Amino acid sequence: MGNGWIDLGGQVAVVTGAASGIGKATCFALAGAGAKVIALDLDLQGAQSVATAIGGAAHGLDVTSEFEWHAVADWIEAEYGRLDILVNSAGIAISDSVGDADLVNYHKTFAVNVEGTLLGMQVALDFMRKQGKGAIVNLASTASLKGNPIMASYGASKATVAHFTRSAALQNARTQNDIRINAVLPGLVETAMADDFYGIFDKIGSPDDVRGAFTTGRPARPEEIADVILFLASDRASFVSGASIVVDRAASA
Ligand code: NAI
Repeated sequence: MGNGWIDLGGQVAVVTGAASGIGKATCFALAGAGAKVIALDLDLQGAQSVATAIGGAAHGLDVTSEFEWHAVADWIEAEYGRLDILVNSAGIAISDSVGDADLVNYHKTFAVNVEGTLLGMQVALDFMRKQGKGAIVNLASTASLKGNPIMASYGASKATVAHFTRSAALQNARTQNDIRINAVLPGLVETAMADDFYGIFDKIGSPDDVRGAFTTGRPARPEEIADVILFLASDRASFVSGASIVVDRAASA
């Protein structure tokens, strides 16, 4: 059962960071289009409550752990035998600047945002190459488009996500398979992470100017990002791969 325009019936979709915000909204959007959704998060209880609401399944996962990714892959293979869609939404935001970047925070940021996404793509591509088909959507950010004095590591991590996305997309497109990999770059989205961003904005002298780089009038609702992810995950986006889709209501235009 699909939503009319997008039908993901028979497809297995995996979402990281599924307990909250964009990941959670994406689980609802994918399930609404008929996909069997597997909700993954460090917060297993949160993932389970999403899974219960959409008739999907949940599994605990720290995206930074290669070991845990492989355990999840084995479980998916045993339970479902396939993986059609991966959405890498797990992420963290810590404020820092190049002048005083704390390497501990830098490593944490890159471990979750970059290595977590890379490991997820590797696991998904193992399934998708066998199937000859699949779609991956990675969450980058408009914070990756311009330098930012107070979110240096975060912006760099998201720029890396977008670049890995392009490399993976090109590699697969050249082998003539039907695997597409895209990045979504939201501006400010009203989620738990937005509270972190507001705290970061308030740290500097002219918060309105900084806020203005990420939002025009209002932040996005998570569902407004999930709808774009849903489109990219579906065959409606059959010729879209390697793209960085900005979803910020012109804030970075
Ligand atoms: P959120 O904070 O609401 O949710 C993030 C989820 O990721 C949480 O459920 C958390 O438990 C999970 N998570 C964190 N570390 C994890 C780990 N090591 N392993 C597994 N799960 C982990 O965040 P939100 O806003 O939904 O963000 C989703 C993605 O969108 C992130 O990658 C974020 O960087 C990106 N993004 C968010 C924006 C915003 O304004 N909220 C703007 C642009 C991009």
